[in-house]
Amino acid sequence: MTAITACFDSSEHNHLVGNFAILDRGEPVFKIIHAQFLAPGIKRFVIDAPRIARKQKPGQFVILRIYEEGERIPVTIENSDPERGTINIVVQSAGKTTHLLNSLNTGDQILDVVGPLGKPSEIANYGTVVVVGGGVGTAMAYPTAAALKRAGNRVLSIVGARNKELVILEREMRDVSDALMITTDDGSYADKGFVTDKLRQLIQNGTRIDLVVAVGPIVMMKAIAEMTRKENIHTVVSLNPIMIDGTGMCGGCRVLIDGKSEFACVDGPEFDAHRVDFAVLVQRNSMYRDAEQRSLAEFQRAPKTQASSQEGEHACASIPAGRQGDQR
Ligand code: NAD
Ligand code: FES
Repeated sequence: MTAITACFDSSEHNHLVGNFAILDRGEPVFKIIHAQFLAPGIKRFVIDAPRIARKQKPGQFVILRIYEEGERIPVTIENSDPERGTINIVVQSAGKTTHLLNSLNTGDQILDVVGPLGKPSEIANYGTVVVVGGGVGTAMAYPTAAALKRAGNRVLSIVGARNKELVILEREMRDVSDALMITTDDGSYADKGFVTDKLRQLIQNGTRIDLVVAVGPIVMMKAIAEMTRKENIHTVVSLNPIMIDGTGMCGGCRVLIDGKSEFACVDGPEFDAHRVDFAVLVQRNSMYRDAEQRSLAEFQRAPKTQASSQEGEHACASIPAGRQGDQR
């Protein structure tokens, strides 16, 4: 156990409610079966969560909380194994909570994990589908690519990362794709450039594309939406707004779709890219940036104190809401 487990201090019992594995409070029951860095700052956790594993479908996510007063953060489900009763989540160290989470190891436990949340990806035989994973967004793109392949599509995948070390799930994506194209921003691996360069090439080469699915940074999804709009190619993006409850009640994850408010946690996270107001998404996701940076700086100054002391628990709780941007 690492120091952070001292944040778990209640003795009340946990229980399972409806479709969700929900804990009221108290003893952690979500055991980390395995934890491993996939790349610097990007860690995969295999978590014992049998009910979520049985229900999870591609495109869905969980919201987890590490300790009683902690921030809730939405996290990508990269895979699940219903027989073993485990889910895989992939977490990128970005803010305080994700740094804390990525300090956990095999054998440690997470206070609560709620899910599976969100609507699953719409899987059908579309024909030729281009699946784009930008950085850690690849973890969310992977199960959708796999399901699209199983549904009989020709899957052309594009994975982009800043550099060679940050390319994740290459083998997994290759296994479920008819072709895999990789780009790195700095050219340290495969082709130099952005994922959009590869998509542009496919379009310019006259490749028939029936659907594009893109998951990654907002700026990437926006660029892809602009490119495919001109070509009239149906495009789906997975949005990552701030989330709190994940049940459609708090309004934290409000996004504008065709000028109307929708909630990414229950109406999404996947939306028609050509209907998304990306400017509002960027603006809402930056609302807590200063507080997030302050919180991370405090944590980095004294991580042990924050993780293990009572005072630290309250310091840990200073930002109530989380966003997928924290981890993906
Ligand atoms: P990153 O910033 O390293 O970018 C990953 C890749 O996206 C780049 O290598 C490039 O190919 C492409 N890209 C970046 N900027 C671009 C631009 N201006 N035009 C075209 N392509 C561009 O990604 P990261 O550090 O791994 O961060 C991942 C991001 O993905 C986080 O911001 C996270 O919030 C987001 N994310 C989103 C989801 C989701 O559901 N939308 C899921 C997981 C992660
Ligand atoms: Fe609260 Fe979606 S996270 S409404």
